[in-house]
Amino acid sequence: MDSKRSTFTGKIGFVLAAAGSAVGLGNIWRFPYLAAKYGGGIFLLVYIILAVTFGFSLMIAEIAIGRKTGLSAVEAYKKLDRRFAFVGYISAFIPAIILPYYSVIGGWVMKYMFGFVAGEKTAMAADSYFGSFIGGVGEPLLWFALFIGITAVIVLMGVEKGIEKVSKVMMPILVILILFISIYTIVTMDGAWEGVVYYIKPDLAHFSVKTILAAMGQLFYSMSLAMGIMITFGSYMKKDISIEASTRQIEVFDTIVAFLAGLMIIPAVFAFSGGDPNALNKGAGLMFATLPKVFDVMAGGSFIGFAFFIMVFFAALTSSISLMETVVSVLQDKTSISRKKACIAVLVFSLLLGAVSSLGYSAWDSVKLLGLQFLDFFDFVSNSVMMPVAAFFTCLIIGYIVKPRWAIDEVETSGKFKSAGLFTFMIKYIAPVCILLILISSVLDALGIVKL
Ligand code: PFF
Repeated sequence: MDSKRSTFTGKIGFVLAAAGSAVGLGNIWRFPYLAAKYGGGIFLLVYIILAVTFGFSLMIAEIAIGRKTGLSAVEAYKKLDRRFAFVGYISAFIPAIILPYYSVIGGWVMKYMFGFVAGEKTAMAADSYFGSFIGGVGEPLLWFALFIGITAVIVLMGVEKGIEKVSKVMMPILVILILFISIYTIVTMDGAWEGVVYYIKPDLAHFSVKTILAAMGQLFYSMSLAMGIMITFGSYMKKDISIEASTRQIEVFDTIVAFLAGLMIIPAVFAFSGGDPNALNKGAGLMFATLPKVFDVMAGGSFIGFAFFIMVFFAALTSSISLMETVVSVLQDKTSISRKKACIAVLVFSLLLGAVSSLGYSAWDSVKLLGLQFLDFFDFVSNSVMMPVAAFFTCLIIGYIVKPRWAIDEVETSGKFKSAGLFTFMIKYIAPVCILLILISSVLDALGIVKL
């Protein structure tokens, strides 16, 4: 099978494909609500520091594992050390947990996209709109089913490439739109500037262990790390392409999109809430509750609102496709069932698990797991437990079993590895210790043993 592995054509092909997987709802929906909740500027600072040191090193490690072994996660970890084969399985299982709830949010995006077409601009700006939408049983379920259905059809028909082409055109437009909406809000709305200050200026008073916890979970999620994706991408990458330069580009682009999304949403929250701190704590609904208010007062808001949500839809779709593709191919490899059957199995599983997340806001909103709603619970399990576990073992394997040289040699097949020192230091010492501390504290916190 591996001898048939196709490779990306050239450097841009790899960077674009990996960036397409990295940039998604994580940047536009998840990053801003975490930044709002966990202290604004201080969260941003911690995130950026982690991205350029830790995220960078882990992404290099994963791409190098993929390219050197030419295998996807499950087989690659087995090849590195049989005792650690389980890390591959954990990584492969993570996308299966993310895909269902990712598609629930994708469904919300579609609902808003069509809302602007249907001329509901003003209705959508009302305070109660988002709450009553997700508080309904049938409608969010339908939008979710539609989103995951579209994802499944694309994966089943094998037309991912076409969608990726569309999304390559959409991505720059999305970035320009986000910039435009940010500038519009900051320049025209009273109170928005306070939001800019809150978002940009690190304030140690807002710092807590949770800031680091949230930033690290977000880093894995946003950069598609610790779930086998970058290993698979690496296995398709040609030897003469620089892993280091490509990683830098993906990381910088991903972080810029997240940064801009925060700049678009947080000042708007300040402008519309009159500085009420509770407004920052809206969680998963922040983007949906805030942006329609901006579009409502903007000239041409219906069009801009529609344009924005359709771009987000495409960014979400390329990510959900790569999530589903990963789960389908692992299932296919492991069970040797046909691609069609694997797609259908993943679809049915996702429909069931996603329905639980969706109903967690309506019929089952009184049911809590570890004090969390279902969607937040799945998000917690994948981002704050499973990904740190996978990342921890990846650091151990590279740092102490095969040794950093093993990965550095792979990076150096295409020239000097300028940050080899940083890489070794991070992978051997800093990253595993930080991850372990974070993992332990987030689990103790969730179990109510320690209050962070
Ligand atoms: N990195 C994506 C985002 O930020 O939205 C989420 C994701 C997509 C993770 C695809 C993993 C993946 F395979």
